[in-house]
Amino acid sequence: MLLYKDVESLKKCISELKEQNCTIGFVPTMGALHQGHVSLVQRAKKEADIVVVSIFVNPTQFNNPEDLKNYPITLQEDINLLENENCDILFCPETSEMYPNGNISKKYPLNGLDNRLEGEKRPGHFDGVCTIVHHLFDIVSPNKAYFGEKDFQQLAIIKHLVKSLSLNIEILSCPTVRDVDGLAKSSRNKLLPSSHRQLAPLIYNSLVKAKHLFGTKDIAELKEMVKNEIKTCKEMALDYVEIVNSESLIPLEHSQSQEKAHILIAVYLGNVRLIDNLLLND
Ligand code: PAJ
Repeated sequence: MLLYKDVESLKKCISELKEQNCTIGFVPTMGALHQGHVSLVQRAKKEADIVVVSIFVNPTQFNNPEDLKNYPITLQEDINLLENENCDILFCPETSEMYPNGNISKKYPLNGLDNRLEGEKRPGHFDGVCTIVHHLFDIVSPNKAYFGEKDFQQLAIIKHLVKSLSLNIEILSCPTVRDVDGLAKSSRNKLLPSSHRQLAPLIYNSLVKAKHLFGTKDIAELKEMVKNEIKTCKEMALDYVEIVNSESLIPLEHSQSQEKAHILIAVYLGNVRLIDNLLLND
């Protein structure tokens, strides 16, 4: 695996690969890699000639400085894991390389997709995500880029970004990888003490319950049911639960509707914030 830390060397390498007509598959990450990330890399390996992974803990998408300070960093383990997957190129720049003029986000018109859910609870988060992903796309110029459904709103926003900027990049969505007990894999799971880790499956289980009842109860009742489930655990605090149209992310009024619906949730377990989501009608 080739490892690059500076933009110019990586760009040079990519342009040489492109001259040889190689297709580039790109997996942007913030490191502390787990099987969720690996599933994206494996898919990219199948679908592109060269796979580029980036590891960069992007400061502009953290609205909470404590969250940024606590974000897990496991670079050597990440490198070993990527080598095992035959990843071709790893890009892990310093912050000054990505933000030479200071940690400032650009503003992107996101058609209201960023006002709700995570966007409402984490002001500026999606401008930070779009700023770094746009910059990374510019450097890596991938043919295909892989994103997880785990971050469902992020995926919708990146699809919108690529369309609105007319970027010639195919965005591929990959299913959420879970631990055997249902907890969605996440770098933040590493921050859970084992006493809290044991409680965490309640989040996914409450979404599964809502899925079973979808169509038989109205939206308000379903949300109330999930709220009450989370309330049974005193270590948890619900940040939001919402049932939305899977494309527009606009909250749904009726559970009988034919449109595709997702339930999205964010929960604090102790001081670790976990998100999850599930398609309600497949
Ligand atoms: P990060 O949280 O490291 O996630 C990198 C990619 O892995 C994202 O596309 C995310 O949705 C996907 N992913 C995470 N957990 C997953 C799981 N359990 N199953 C499947 N895919 C999973 O998302 C980010 O980083 C950043 O916002 C980034 C896009 C890199 C911009 O900084």
